[in-house]
Amino acid sequence: MQKIKVGIIGSGFIADFHCLAYKQIPSVEIIGISSLLSEQAKKLMKKYEIPGEPIEIYQDLLKKDLDAVSICLPNYLHKEVAIAALNAGKHVMIEKPLARTSIEGEEIISAAKNAGKKIFYCENNIYAPTFRKMKEIIKEGGLGKIYKARGKEQHSGPHSAWFYKKEKSGGGSLIDLGIHDIACLLWFLEDDVKSVFCQTSTIQPDRGEFGKCEVEDNAIGILNFKNGAHVSIEESWTAPGGYSMLFEIYGTKGQVIADPCRMTPLIAYSEKGYGYSVEKAGSTIGWTYPVPEEAWTFGYPQEMKHFIECIETGKKTQTNGEFGLKILKIVELMYKSAKSGKIEEME
Ligand SMILES: NC(=O)c1ccc[n+]([C@@H]2O[C@H](COP(=O)([O-])OP(=O)(O)OC[C@H]3O[C@@H](n4cnc5c(N)ncnc54)[C@H](O)[C@@H]3O)[C@@H](O)[C@H]2O)c1
Repeated sequence: MQKIKVGIIGSGFIADFHCLAYKQIPSVEIIGISSLLSEQAKKLMKKYEIPGEPIEIYQDLLKKDLDAVSICLPNYLHKEVAIAALNAGKHVMIEKPLARTSIEGEEIISAAKNAGKKIFYCENNIYAPTFRKMKEIIKEGGLGKIYKARGKEQHSGPHSAWFYKKEKSGGGSLIDLGIHDIACLLWFLEDDVKSVFCQTSTIQPDRGEFGKCEVEDNAIGILNFKNGAHVSIEESWTAPGGYSMLFEIYGTKGQVIADPCRMTPLIAYSEKGYGYSVEKAGSTIGWTYPVPEEAWTFGYPQEMKHFIECIETGKKTQTNGEFGLKILKIVELMYKSAKSGKIEEME
Protein backbone atom coordinates (compact mmCIF):
# COMPACT_ATOMS: atom_id res chain seq x y z
CA MET A 1 0.00 0.00 0.00
CA GLN A 2 1.21 3.49 -0.82
CA LYS A 3 2.29 5.47 2.21
CA ILE A 4 0.68 8.77 3.21
CA LYS A 5 3.46 11.35 3.04
CA VAL A 6 3.35 14.09 5.65
CA GLY A 7 5.37 17.20 6.41
CA ILE A 8 5.51 18.95 9.77
CA ILE A 9 5.75 22.73 10.09
CA GLY A 10 7.11 23.76 13.47
CA SER A 11 9.34 21.73 15.77
CA GLY A 12 8.24 22.87 19.23
CA PHE A 13 6.09 21.36 21.94
CA ILE A 14 3.18 20.07 19.86
CA ALA A 15 5.29 19.01 16.86
CA ASP A 16 6.84 16.39 19.16
CA PHE A 17 3.39 14.84 19.77
CA HIS A 18 2.63 14.92 16.02
CA CYS A 19 5.91 13.10 15.27
CA LEU A 20 5.25 10.54 18.00
CA ALA A 21 1.74 9.94 16.67
CA TYR A 22 2.76 9.62 13.00
CA LYS A 23 5.59 7.26 13.92
CA GLN A 24 3.02 4.84 15.36
CA ILE A 25 1.13 4.59 12.05
CA PRO A 26 2.82 2.14 9.67
CA SER A 27 1.20 3.71 6.60
CA VAL A 28 2.69 7.16 7.28
CA GLU A 29 6.05 8.49 6.19
CA ILE A 30 7.32 11.80 7.61
CA ILE A 31 9.05 13.49 4.67
CA GLY A 32 10.41 16.56 6.41
CA ILE A 33 10.20 19.19 9.10
CA SER A 34 10.24 22.94 8.57
CA SER A 35 11.22 25.21 11.43
CA LEU A 36 12.89 28.51 12.13
CA LEU A 37 14.70 26.82 15.02
CA SER A 38 17.02 24.43 13.22
CA GLU A 39 18.72 23.00 16.34
CA GLN A 40 15.31 22.25 17.84
CA ALA A 41 14.18 20.62 14.58
CA LYS A 42 17.39 18.57 14.33
CA LYS A 43 16.82 17.19 17.83
CA LEU A 44 13.26 16.21 16.94
CA MET A 45 14.40 14.54 13.70
CA LYS A 46 17.03 12.57 15.57
CA LYS A 47 14.56 11.53 18.29
CA TYR A 48 12.08 10.18 15.73
CA GLU A 49 14.67 8.96 13.18
CA ILE A 50 13.46 11.29 10.44
CA PRO A 51 16.07 11.47 7.67
CA GLY A 52 17.35 14.68 6.05
CA GLU A 53 17.92 18.19 7.34
CA PRO A 54 15.39 20.70 8.73
CA ILE A 55 13.90 23.04 6.12
CA GLU A 56 13.96 26.68 7.20
CA ILE A 57 11.46 28.12 4.72
CA TYR A 58 8.10 26.37 4.99
CA GLN A 59 7.30 27.08 1.33
CA ASP A 60 10.23 24.80 0.42
CA LEU A 61 8.67 21.94 2.36
CA LEU A 62 5.37 22.55 0.54
CA LYS A 63 7.16 22.02 -2.81
CA LYS A 64 7.73 18.38 -1.83
CA ASP A 65 5.49 15.50 -2.77
CA LEU A 66 3.27 15.45 0.32
CA ASP A 67 -0.31 14.34 1.00
CA ALA A 68 -0.69 16.41 4.15
CA VAL A 69 1.03 18.81 6.50
CA SER A 70 0.79 19.31 10.24
CA ILE A 71 0.65 22.96 11.23
CA CYS A 72 2.38 23.16 14.61
CA LEU A 73 2.96 26.90 14.58
CA PRO A 74 2.11 29.94 16.69
CA ASN A 75 -1.52 30.98 16.16
CA TYR A 76 -0.73 34.06 14.05
CA LEU A 77 0.78 31.82 11.35
CA HIS A 78 -2.11 29.34 11.10
CA LYS A 79 -4.01 31.24 8.41
CA GLU A 80 -1.05 32.10 6.17
CA VAL A 81 0.50 28.64 6.29
CA ALA A 82 -2.77 26.70 6.08
CA ILE A 83 -3.83 28.62 2.96
CA ALA A 84 -0.39 28.16 1.38
CA ALA A 85 -0.52 24.41 2.11
CA LEU A 86 -4.06 24.03 0.76
CA ASN A 87 -3.16 25.96 -2.39
CA ALA A 88 -0.18 23.64 -2.79
CA GLY A 89 -2.64 20.71 -2.82
CA LYS A 90 -2.03 19.32 0.67
CA HIS A 91 -4.54 18.29 3.34
CA VAL A 92 -3.96 20.20 6.54
CA MET A 93 -3.82 19.01 10.15
CA ILE A 94 -4.15 22.27 12.03
CA GLU A 95 -3.56 22.70 15.71
CA LYS A 96 -6.07 24.45 17.91
CA PRO A 97 -7.13 27.25 17.80
CA LEU A 98 -8.09 27.18 14.12
CA ALA A 99 -6.81 30.79 13.93
CA ARG A 100 -6.73 33.96 16.01
CA THR A 101 -10.16 35.14 14.84
CA SER A 102 -13.20 33.69 13.12
CA ILE A 103 -12.52 35.91 10.08
CA GLU A 104 -9.16 34.19 9.68
CA GLY A 105 -10.84 30.83 10.28
CA GLU A 106 -13.40 31.49 7.56
CA GLU A 107 -10.61 32.31 5.10
CA ILE A 108 -8.94 28.96 5.86
CA ILE A 109 -12.20 27.06 5.32
CA SER A 110 -12.90 28.84 2.08
CA ALA A 111 -9.35 28.06 0.84
CA ALA A 112 -9.94 24.38 1.66
CA LYS A 113 -13.18 24.38 -0.36
CA ASN A 114 -11.50 26.04 -3.33
CA ALA A 115 -8.58 23.61 -3.21
CA GLY A 116 -10.79 20.54 -2.66
CA LYS A 117 -8.63 19.57 0.32
CA LYS A 118 -9.50 18.73 3.93
CA ILE A 119 -8.91 20.53 7.19
CA PHE A 120 -8.35 18.23 10.13
CA TYR A 121 -8.80 20.26 13.30
CA CYS A 122 -6.52 18.99 16.05
CA GLU A 123 -8.64 18.72 19.19
CA ASN A 124 -6.88 15.83 20.86
CA ASN A 125 -9.23 15.64 23.87
CA ILE A 126 -12.04 14.34 21.66
CA TYR A 127 -9.84 11.31 20.93
CA ALA A 128 -8.71 10.79 24.56
CA PRO A 129 -9.91 7.45 26.01
CA THR A 130 -11.24 8.93 29.26
CA PHE A 131 -13.40 11.48 27.47
CA ARG A 132 -14.57 8.95 24.88
CA LYS A 133 -15.83 6.75 27.70
CA MET A 134 -17.63 9.77 29.20
CA LYS A 135 -19.23 10.44 25.85
CA GLU A 136 -20.35 6.80 25.59
CA ILE A 137 -22.04 6.98 29.00
CA ILE A 138 -23.80 10.23 28.05
CA LYS A 139 -24.78 8.94 24.61
CA GLU A 140 -26.31 5.78 26.09
CA GLY A 141 -28.52 7.94 28.30
CA GLY A 142 -26.77 6.84 31.48
CA LEU A 143 -27.03 10.30 33.00
CA GLY A 144 -30.56 11.13 31.91
CA LYS A 145 -31.09 14.72 30.76
CA ILE A 146 -27.91 16.79 31.11
CA TYR A 147 -28.66 20.05 32.94
CA LYS A 148 -25.23 21.16 34.17
CA ALA A 149 -21.57 20.67 33.30
CA ARG A 150 -18.16 22.02 34.17
CA GLY A 151 -14.86 22.09 32.29
CA LYS A 152 -11.55 23.22 33.72
CA GLU A 153 -8.02 23.34 32.42
CA GLN A 154 -4.95 24.78 34.08
CA HIS A 155 -1.18 24.95 34.32
CA SER A 156 1.42 27.51 35.32
CA GLY A 157 1.68 29.16 31.90
CA PRO A 158 2.93 28.41 28.39
CA HIS A 159 6.49 27.63 27.42
CA SER A 160 7.07 30.19 24.58
CA ALA A 161 6.94 34.00 24.52
CA TRP A 162 4.47 34.24 21.61
CA PHE A 163 1.58 32.81 23.70
CA TYR A 164 1.68 35.95 25.92
CA LYS A 165 1.51 38.45 23.01
CA LYS A 166 -1.98 39.38 21.83
CA GLU A 167 -0.94 39.96 18.23
CA LYS A 168 0.63 36.50 17.97
CA SER A 169 -1.78 34.41 20.01
CA GLY A 170 -5.14 36.16 19.64
CA GLY A 171 -5.70 35.85 23.40
CA GLY A 172 -4.66 34.07 26.56
CA SER A 173 -5.91 31.16 28.66
CA LEU A 174 -9.40 31.34 27.12
CA ILE A 175 -8.36 30.84 23.49
CA ASP A 176 -5.51 28.52 24.50
CA LEU A 177 -7.14 26.25 27.11
CA GLY A 178 -10.83 27.19 27.06
CA ILE A 179 -10.97 26.17 23.43
CA HIS A 180 -10.37 22.53 24.48
CA ASP A 181 -13.15 22.63 27.06
CA ILE A 182 -15.67 24.24 24.74
CA ALA A 183 -14.93 21.65 22.03
CA CYS A 184 -15.51 18.75 24.41
CA LEU A 185 -18.58 20.29 26.02
CA LEU A 186 -20.21 20.83 22.60
CA TRP A 187 -19.40 17.23 21.78
CA PHE A 188 -20.66 15.87 25.13
CA LEU A 189 -23.90 17.84 25.07
CA GLU A 190 -24.58 17.60 21.31
CA ASP A 191 -26.24 20.98 21.44
CA ASP A 192 -25.48 24.59 20.53
CA VAL A 193 -24.64 27.55 22.71
CA LYS A 194 -27.35 30.19 23.10
CA SER A 195 -25.54 32.82 25.18
CA VAL A 196 -22.34 33.34 27.15
CA PHE A 197 -20.96 35.32 30.05
CA CYS A 198 -17.27 35.64 30.75
CA GLN A 199 -14.82 37.40 33.04
CA THR A 200 -11.08 37.51 32.46
CA SER A 201 -8.10 38.76 34.44
CA THR A 202 -4.33 38.99 34.26
CA ILE A 203 -2.87 38.27 37.66
CA GLN A 204 0.73 37.57 36.64
CA PRO A 205 1.65 40.25 34.07
CA ASP A 206 5.41 39.81 34.48
CA ARG A 207 6.48 36.58 32.79
CA GLY A 208 10.24 36.93 33.27
CA GLU A 209 12.14 35.73 30.18
CA PHE A 210 8.90 35.86 28.14
CA GLY A 211 8.27 39.54 28.95
CA LYS A 212 4.88 41.02 29.62
CA CYS A 213 1.72 38.95 29.55
CA GLU A 214 -0.52 41.09 27.33
CA VAL A 215 -3.47 38.71 27.48
CA GLU A 216 -5.71 37.19 30.15
CA ASP A 217 -4.07 34.49 32.23
CA ASN A 218 -7.36 33.53 33.88
CA ALA A 219 -10.88 33.22 32.52
CA ILE A 220 -14.18 32.06 33.93
CA GLY A 221 -17.16 31.61 31.67
CA ILE A 222 -20.75 30.48 31.63
CA LEU A 223 -22.25 28.95 28.51
CA ASN A 224 -26.01 28.62 28.29
CA PHE A 225 -27.01 25.90 25.87
CA LYS A 226 -30.15 25.97 23.74
CA ASN A 227 -31.53 22.91 25.57
CA GLY A 228 -31.33 24.78 28.88
CA ALA A 229 -28.09 23.26 30.21
CA HIS A 230 -25.82 25.61 32.17
CA VAL A 231 -22.11 25.02 31.69
CA SER A 232 -19.16 26.66 33.38
CA ILE A 233 -15.55 26.75 32.29
CA GLU A 234 -12.46 27.82 34.25
CA GLU A 235 -9.09 28.36 32.62
CA SER A 236 -5.81 29.31 34.25
CA TRP A 237 -2.20 29.96 33.32
CA THR A 238 -1.28 30.71 36.93
CA ALA A 239 -1.76 27.32 38.57
CA PRO A 240 1.47 25.60 39.66
CA GLY A 241 1.49 21.82 40.06
CA GLY A 242 1.44 20.63 36.45
CA TYR A 243 -1.09 20.41 33.65
CA SER A 244 -4.53 19.28 34.68
CA MET A 245 -8.01 19.18 33.25
CA LEU A 246 -11.37 18.29 34.65
CA PHE A 247 -14.86 17.62 33.35
CA GLU A 248 -18.00 17.13 35.42
CA ILE A 249 -21.28 16.36 33.70
CA TYR A 250 -24.53 16.27 35.66
CA GLY A 251 -27.79 14.73 34.49
CA THR A 252 -31.16 13.91 36.03
CA LYS A 253 -30.14 10.24 36.38
CA GLY A 254 -26.45 10.50 37.19
CA GLN A 255 -23.13 12.24 36.92
CA VAL A 256 -19.72 11.54 35.48
CA ILE A 257 -16.41 13.11 36.48
CA ALA A 258 -13.08 12.90 34.67
CA ASP A 259 -9.82 14.18 36.12
CA PRO A 260 -7.19 12.25 34.13
CA CYS A 261 -4.20 14.14 35.53
CA ARG A 262 -5.11 13.77 39.22
CA MET A 263 -7.05 10.51 39.30
CA THR A 264 -4.19 8.63 37.68
CA PRO A 265 -3.66 4.94 38.44
CA LEU A 266 -0.35 6.00 40.06
CA ILE A 267 0.36 8.13 43.08
CA ALA A 268 4.06 8.46 43.86
CA TYR A 269 6.00 9.88 46.77
CA SER A 270 9.67 10.71 46.27
CA GLU A 271 12.10 12.61 48.50
CA LYS A 272 14.69 12.78 45.69
CA GLY A 273 12.38 13.41 42.73
CA TYR A 274 12.46 11.54 39.43
CA GLY A 275 12.47 12.35 35.72
CA TYR A 276 8.97 13.31 34.61
CA SER A 277 5.41 13.06 35.88
CA VAL A 278 3.23 15.22 33.60
CA GLU A 279 3.47 18.31 31.37
CA LYS A 280 4.56 21.48 33.20
CA ALA A 281 4.88 19.82 36.62
CA GLY A 282 7.51 21.99 38.29
CA SER A 283 8.87 19.21 40.48
CA THR A 284 8.63 15.48 41.10
CA ILE A 285 9.55 15.75 44.78
CA GLY A 286 6.90 14.81 47.33
CA TRP A 287 3.54 13.37 46.35
CA THR A 288 2.99 13.34 42.58
CA TYR A 289 0.51 11.93 40.07
CA PRO A 290 2.52 10.51 37.18
CA VAL A 291 0.43 10.10 34.02
CA PRO A 292 1.31 6.83 32.27
CA GLU A 293 1.44 6.97 28.45
CA GLU A 294 0.81 10.72 28.45
CA ALA A 295 0.37 11.05 24.68
CA TRP A 296 -2.14 8.18 24.64
CA THR A 297 -4.00 9.52 27.71
CA PHE A 298 -4.39 12.88 25.96
CA GLY A 299 -5.49 11.28 22.66
CA TYR A 300 -2.72 12.42 20.29
CA PRO A 301 -1.92 9.10 18.52
CA GLN A 302 -5.61 8.21 18.29
CA GLU A 303 -6.38 11.62 16.77
CA MET A 304 -3.73 11.29 14.09
CA LYS A 305 -4.69 7.67 13.32
CA HIS A 306 -8.26 8.88 12.70
CA PHE A 307 -7.07 11.71 10.40
CA ILE A 308 -4.89 9.38 8.36
CA GLU A 309 -7.76 6.89 8.02
CA CYS A 310 -9.93 9.77 6.75
CA ILE A 311 -7.33 10.54 4.07
CA GLU A 312 -6.99 6.86 3.14
CA THR A 313 -10.69 6.04 3.01
CA GLY A 314 -12.29 9.42 2.28
CA LYS A 315 -14.44 9.18 5.41
CA LYS A 316 -15.45 12.39 7.19
CA THR A 317 -13.53 13.56 10.20
CA GLN A 318 -15.27 14.24 13.48
CA THR A 319 -13.19 17.38 13.98
CA ASN A 320 -13.07 19.45 10.80
CA GLY A 321 -12.44 23.13 10.08
CA GLU A 322 -16.11 24.02 10.58
CA PHE A 323 -15.97 22.52 14.07
CA GLY A 324 -12.85 24.58 14.85
CA LEU A 325 -14.62 27.70 13.55
CA LYS A 326 -17.72 27.08 15.65
CA ILE A 327 -15.62 26.94 18.82
CA LEU A 328 -13.65 30.04 17.81
CA LYS A 329 -16.91 31.97 17.41
CA ILE A 330 -17.93 31.03 20.96
CA VAL A 331 -14.50 32.13 22.25
CA GLU A 332 -14.88 35.46 20.46
CA LEU A 333 -18.30 36.00 21.99
CA MET A 334 -16.83 35.25 25.42
CA TYR A 335 -14.17 37.92 24.87
CA LYS A 336 -16.96 40.29 23.87
CA SER A 337 -18.79 39.49 27.11
CA ALA A 338 -15.62 39.98 29.17
CA LYS A 339 -15.32 43.45 27.63
CA SER A 340 -18.99 44.45 27.85
CA GLY A 341 -19.61 42.89 31.27
CA LYS A 342 -22.88 41.53 29.87
CA ILE A 343 -24.40 38.24 28.79
CA GLU A 344 -23.89 38.04 25.02
CA GLU A 345 -26.23 36.13 22.72
CA MET A 346 -25.03 33.91 19.86
CA GLU A 347 -26.33 35.01 16.48
N1 LIG B 1 -3.43 20.22 21.31
C1 LIG B 1 -2.80 20.75 22.35
O1 LIG B 1 -3.07 20.40 23.49
C2 LIG B 1 -1.75 21.78 22.13
C3 LIG B 1 -0.72 21.93 23.07
C4 LIG B 1 0.26 22.89 22.81
C5 LIG B 1 0.19 23.69 21.70
N2 LIG B 1 -0.84 23.54 20.81
C6 LIG B 1 -0.96 24.43 19.65
O2 LIG B 1 0.10 24.12 18.74
C7 LIG B 1 0.59 25.29 18.10
C8 LIG B 1 2.09 25.41 18.36
O3 LIG B 1 2.32 25.48 19.76
P1 LIG B 1 3.69 24.95 20.41
O4 LIG B 1 3.41 24.82 21.86
O5 LIG B 1 4.21 23.79 19.67
O6 LIG B 1 4.62 26.23 20.16
P2 LIG B 1 6.19 26.30 20.32
O7 LIG B 1 6.50 27.70 20.66
O8 LIG B 1 6.68 25.22 21.21
O9 LIG B 1 6.74 25.97 18.85
C9 LIG B 1 6.51 26.84 17.77
C10 LIG B 1 7.34 26.36 16.59
O10 LIG B 1 7.01 27.14 15.47
C11 LIG B 1 8.20 27.31 14.69
N3 LIG B 1 8.02 28.43 13.76
C12 LIG B 1 7.69 29.71 14.05
N4 LIG B 1 7.62 30.42 12.90
C13 LIG B 1 7.89 29.56 11.86
C14 LIG B 1 7.94 29.66 10.46
N5 LIG B 1 7.69 30.81 9.83
N6 LIG B 1 8.24 28.56 9.74
C15 LIG B 1 8.50 27.39 10.34
N7 LIG B 1 8.46 27.22 11.69
C16 LIG B 1 8.16 28.29 12.43
C17 LIG B 1 9.26 27.52 15.72
O11 LIG B 1 10.52 27.27 15.13
C18 LIG B 1 8.86 26.49 16.77
O12 LIG B 1 9.44 25.25 16.48
C19 LIG B 1 -0.24 26.45 18.69
O13 LIG B 1 -1.26 26.77 17.81
C20 LIG B 1 -0.79 25.90 19.98
O14 LIG B 1 -2.03 26.47 20.36
C21 LIG B 1 -1.78 22.59 20.99
